[in-house]
Amino acid sequence: MAITFSKDRSIFSLDTQSSSYVFAIENGEHVRHLYWGPKVRNAADFQIRPVERVDSQDAAIDTMAEEYPPFGGLRYKTTAIKPRFPDGTRDLVFRFVEHSVRDGNELVIHLRDAHHKLFVDLHYRLYDDLNVIKRWVEVENRTSADVELSTLASAYFNLPGTDYFYSQVTGHWSAEHQIFRERLQPGRADFQCRKGLTGNTHSPYFILDRGATEERGEVYFGALAYGGNWNVTIESTQFHWVRVALGINSFDFALRLKKGERFATPAVFAGFTELGFSQMSHTMNDLARQIVLPQRARERIHPVLFNSWEATKFDISVHQQIALAKKAAKVGVELFVVDDGWFGQRNSDQAGLGDWVANKKKFPKGLKELTTAVNKLGMEFGLWIEPEMVNPDSNLYRKHPDWIYEFKNRTPTTARNQLVLNLTRPEVQKYLFSVIDALLTENNIAYIKWDMNRPISEPGARNLAPADQCSLWLRHTEAVYELVDALRAKHPHVTFEGCASGGGRIDYGTLGHFDQIWLSDNTDATDRLLIQEGYSYLYPIKAMRAWVTDVPNKITKKSTPLEFRFHSAMCGTLGLGGNLTNYTQKELALCAQKVAEYKRIRHIVQDGHVYRLKSIANGRFHAVQYVYRQAESVLFVFLTAQKYIESNYAVRLRGLDPARRYEVVRREDKFVAFGDYLMNVGISLKMMGDYVSELIHLRATS
Ligand code: DGJ
Repeated sequence: MAITFSKDRSIFSLDTQSSSYVFAIENGEHVRHLYWGPKVRNAADFQIRPVERVDSQDAAIDTMAEEYPPFGGLRYKTTAIKPRFPDGTRDLVFRFVEHSVRDGNELVIHLRDAHHKLFVDLHYRLYDDLNVIKRWVEVENRTSADVELSTLASAYFNLPGTDYFYSQVTGHWSAEHQIFRERLQPGRADFQCRKGLTGNTHSPYFILDRGATEERGEVYFGALAYGGNWNVTIESTQFHWVRVALGINSFDFALRLKKGERFATPAVFAGFTELGFSQMSHTMNDLARQIVLPQRARERIHPVLFNSWEATKFDISVHQQIALAKKAAKVGVELFVVDDGWFGQRNSDQAGLGDWVANKKKFPKGLKELTTAVNKLGMEFGLWIEPEMVNPDSNLYRKHPDWIYEFKNRTPTTARNQLVLNLTRPEVQKYLFSVIDALLTENNIAYIKWDMNRPISEPGARNLAPADQCSLWLRHTEAVYELVDALRAKHPHVTFEGCASGGGRIDYGTLGHFDQIWLSDNTDATDRLLIQEGYSYLYPIKAMRAWVTDVPNKITKKSTPLEFRFHSAMCGTLGLGGNLTNYTQKELALCAQKVAEYKRIRHIVQDGHVYRLKSIANGRFHAVQYVYRQAESVLFVFLTAQKYIESNYAVRLRGLDPARRYEVVRREDKFVAFGDYLMNVGISLKMMGDYVSELIHLRATS
């Protein structure tokens, strides 16, 4: 059984296929963490030794590994929860009430405060075959007054020892997901976002390894399912434990729980493996495809799309888009998406946000003319929106200037000439639902790209009581999720892509409501290889949109061959974003050939496992392989700059069945070899020139 409980010693053991997570209830008050790591068959073997205090400055409770340490007593470690009761008391003294098990795979530890009727439930749900534990916390106020929570982690972890490396991403707009790995030093490493969205800088997860490689070694990891202000704290303590807390950021945060109210935190998905970073990525990829993504996205192979943004920016018209659509259809595109610029007075980023009606000059007969033409060409139609925003120069703002976040007696700050709508207001929620619903009802729209191009500022909401103002950040994120969910419920055939100035909305919360995400506005094929690599550590390839765009690249000014750009974008869900009306016949023929090739291998990329074999982070050569159920595989190789002495590259493949024979197709050449040969000896490639790339396809023949 996955959840075991030894009554006499109050030990709980949560076992997945290859890991165990063990804790105990001590003295009816402390939930003491005992172990997380490779599977241990008998939880009763655990020896629970008393925790010793170091001296009067370092109490036993501070050195103890606790599952969810509240603020209180002699605790000075990272706090999981901090309340404020009406009498001014700001600590929590836990009492264990009971435990319960739901559906055989979810354990709940029920705690309460020793005096106040504040109840805290720690939830652990097991995904046995994935070796993942989902954790979250529910707090219920059964007192007779309001209780404020100013710190509220979703989950807290304790790892033994301090000899770890941590990995995270860093970056900014158009340079997202730059992965780095550092030795953990004493003290705290904090990663967070305070902007009201996930952000383009870091990602809400932790990865801690003990000298792991792609192929082997212990890795602990956990991802927060929340795209609002978030915080991940890794604390390497002097007591030889590493503590990790993930949750809503305490920055400008306070949640008032009214009498009788219950709040469930966002969840954390956490896992452990001894098989290195690849296995971690496979686990999270599988988790996303089996559990997290909206049902439709789990089952679907995503179509090849065209997006108009880089091709035509704001300067669009129905005839120009139809001309593009004709070219797109010819090369095999299946979904035609019109990006920004189609609505209101949107001729630049100065105006129009909020007025979600087709611009009369650009679309004199409404959107229908274009959607009908696109459908006739055999493609689905998609549209860009940025619902959370309003330009001061818009009809919506002129009519409802009070629908934005603002502080009294302060001028609201614009960014990209726009303000953030107050999504905590029911009228705003209603308005947004009705305009998007009308768009989806009146037009044959299969895809919505949902953007958010600025952070929240002046976080004040006229409709909220003073005591609720600091819950605004949370309420905004919840409102976005509720809006998307309501639209999905009414329009179940529509796919939603999440975007925030490129990759500013990538997290497991967003992935629970959106089918896909836009990874970065940087579409330079070489830069993208690294951005995609960073993304692939914890996020699912299936959700990652990647476009082939024109050269010189709009952002980096770099030029790379069309085939190289295709191969880079084919490592995710392929899109085209260049101005196809300027392409030569030869270029269009190559587009058609590559789109057709992608359609043959996309199930391997989208539903397979990724192996990061070589990276241009360490040289000029890059190799990434995808494996689908050991039956098929595709290898992409890239050489960015040639050095003659290094022209021969041996690539050892991974993830194949050693005992099966595979047909290997490399351009016009073919050969057959066993999986063990391909994985141990490898494929030898001679690659010449700058920015050359290849796609090698393998299929099991036995
Ligand atoms: C930012 C997005 O990342 C781009 O792809 C594009 O949609 C623009 N916004 C449109 O304003």
